[in-house]
Amino acid sequence: MSADSTDGIADLVAALPGAETISNPYPVYARLRGGTPLFGYRDYPPGTVPGQDEPVAAWVLMKYDEVAAAAHDHETFSSRDPLQEQSSAPSLMLVNHDNPEHDRLRQYVSPPFAFRQIEQLKPWISACIREMTQAFAGDVEVVDKLTSVIPARVMMRLLGQPDKDASRCRDWANAFMLSADLTAEQRAVSNQELVEYFTSEVAALHQRLQAGEAAPEGLIGTLLSTTVDGQRLSLDEVIRFCLTLVVAGAETTTFLLTNLLYNLATMPAVAAQLREDSNLVLPFINETLRHSGPPQRLFRVVTRDVEVGGRTIRKGDWVALFFAAANHDPAVFPDPQRFDLNRKNLRQQLSMGTGLHQCLGFAVAKMEAAAMIEVVVERYPRLRLGAAPPEPQTASLLTHGFAALTLTFD
Ligand code: HEM
Repeated sequence: MSADSTDGIADLVAALPGAETISNPYPVYARLRGGTPLFGYRDYPPGTVPGQDEPVAAWVLMKYDEVAAAAHDHETFSSRDPLQEQSSAPSLMLVNHDNPEHDRLRQYVSPPFAFRQIEQLKPWISACIREMTQAFAGDVEVVDKLTSVIPARVMMRLLGQPDKDASRCRDWANAFMLSADLTAEQRAVSNQELVEYFTSEVAALHQRLQAGEAAPEGLIGTLLSTTVDGQRLSLDEVIRFCLTLVVAGAETTTFLLTNLLYNLATMPAVAAQLREDSNLVLPFINETLRHSGPPQRLFRVVTRDVEVGGRTIRKGDWVALFFAAANHDPAVFPDPQRFDLNRKNLRQQLSMGTGLHQCLGFAVAKMEAAAMIEVVVERYPRLRLGAAPPEPQTASLLTHGFAALTLTFD
């Protein structure tokens, strides 16, 4: 059913990609959730270029059970993205693959992303965060100075690339994910640079390995040398893995880290609890993911006619899974606006996805978040909002959080 224009619902659905909803989407979800599935939401999948590519028209799913069921039914709700495949952006590994290809590819990257592997990076990242925050005193804009820097440095370190290239990594990820206010041309140029950088880095390392050198530390070397069932990845696949990790890992984590700092600064009682009990760091991360998680929605394309909530979604239709709306479904998380570290079902939050495509980098994001919280809580017991008001991100409903956040450190 299309949204009914007589009760204002159609207007709300049409306004979903607008700046006002992006900056404060949860009240809109509360009004729409009861009536979903609804058709008529028009927006851009990641990697497409607004102004150059066409938006897709999609169904909206917002109830927890609907969203989780669709994410688990990956045969019906396909992750292949025909629009992105035709656009100027390279299509992503895993994120945009269905089975059996998805599972084949995931075998190459699962071992290096295992929790134990990633935990080994924690002393390094904690030291980086201590060094980055060393000079923090008074008002600091944390997106520029901290939360966008940490994920880019970690990603380049994981890939085995020099730390000096981390700021380029951050800009590329930002442009790809649509949340920066850029022109279509700037975005296309950035996507091109990202591809060229990794094409040349992967080719150079491949040559060195061919010449008999041992694989250096880092994922690029691992991806070039790993075999699964006797098969190596092609160079193109390795390049696209690099792009995927940069765009999937850098920006989402930036928004999470910023939202965590905002919550620390605006919820002094929660900050005090964290100071008293470090076991609460993980619930704090999970409740922030549920309460104000970065990814708001992701798209799927339906491979067969399917009934959802008494409505028929036709083969070929686009569907937007609103993970963030599901995370505020009162049927699963009572009083969803309340921030509560003691919720018993926090691990049910969907901000890292669920099912086949559940986030590969969950351990990385959690490790970065925990390292940052530990340093900030220990050093800055009176963290609070700074003089400049927080600037919500308003360019894309893909992510939720702040374009700029000034906090007072003392
Ligand atoms: C707060 C940080 C992060 C959030 C909120 C997040 C969220 C998500 C979500 C919702 C999905 C599911 C996508 C889908 O169902 O279509 C996903 C998948 C994925 N994430 Fe993350 N992510 C984060 C950090 C990272 C990091 C740090 C990396 C890489 C190091 C990463 C790499 C990936 C990859 C490769 C996939 C695709 C997995 C697959 O399809 O098998 N993510 N992520």
